[in-house]
Amino acid sequence: MTDTDNTAPKSHGRKTLRPSLKPRALMEDAQLANTWTAQVITLFPDSFPGVLGQSLTGKALKDGLWQLDAIDLRPFGIGKHRNVDDTPAGGGAGMVLRPDVVGAAIELAQQRAQVPLPLIYLSPRGKPFTQSMAKSLAAGPGVTLLCGRFEGVDERVLEHYGVTEVSLGDYVLTGGEIAAQALLDASVRLIPGVLGNADSAEEESHSNGLLEHPQYTKPADWQGRHIPDVLMSGHHGQIAKWRQEMSEALTKARRPDMWQAALGSKTTD
Ligand code: ADE
Repeated sequence: MTDTDNTAPKSHGRKTLRPSLKPRALMEDAQLANTWTAQVITLFPDSFPGVLGQSLTGKALKDGLWQLDAIDLRPFGIGKHRNVDDTPAGGGAGMVLRPDVVGAAIELAQQRAQVPLPLIYLSPRGKPFTQSMAKSLAAGPGVTLLCGRFEGVDERVLEHYGVTEVSLGDYVLTGGEIAAQALLDASVRLIPGVLGNADSAEEESHSNGLLEHPQYTKPADWQGRHIPDVLMSGHHGQIAKWRQEMSEALTKARRPDMWQAALGSKTTD
């Protein structure tokens, strides 16, 4: 903790916190109990809620179905300039986030959470994020996300707090913020009540281990291209069969890894 009062986080959603002169640790009402909670430790708290403030996730945030607490890493920095990083031990390019700085932010996040939350560091080194991770996060009390910048975070802080490293894919982003928003979007939409009945999560890509079949809407003829006859037939059985076949063909062609996994789970069912 620093001795300044500017560590007060920005909260979003139904219960918006006003900046307070009280040290943050003393603010008892900061996070609502029994509400799915996303804590995000970041050097760019203004980038939240970002796209999560729009559409379904934005409405759910306003309606109090989840809450977002962006915790600014900068005030935990060292010295007059609040330095958060330093050069890598052993030499090399770039800068590494300091364990004392990141550790202090994690401690504060843990104090503020009403219940223990899984702690995830977004990193290209992490295990790949999947729909099943999104499902299990959505079923829990929430998540604390650590967004890195620069060359990464001192390994000791990751070991000390048992941080899980999660990657969005095999490419490198400038920082964890975009990855954090993607992870939160995928998770929050699965919290009960966030998706309307009309937007079922059951039939979409990845929910059943296959890619989703193609979709069409009006007009029936566009640029000389027609909607497949079966979809206009009104025959629900045939439509379901066609969709299943298309799902399987797409998965086989585009994602042989998923197709093999789907075949494996069929034989063990
Ligand atoms: N931060 C930088 N690159 C990332 C990636 N691919 N996934 C998650 N977090 C990241």
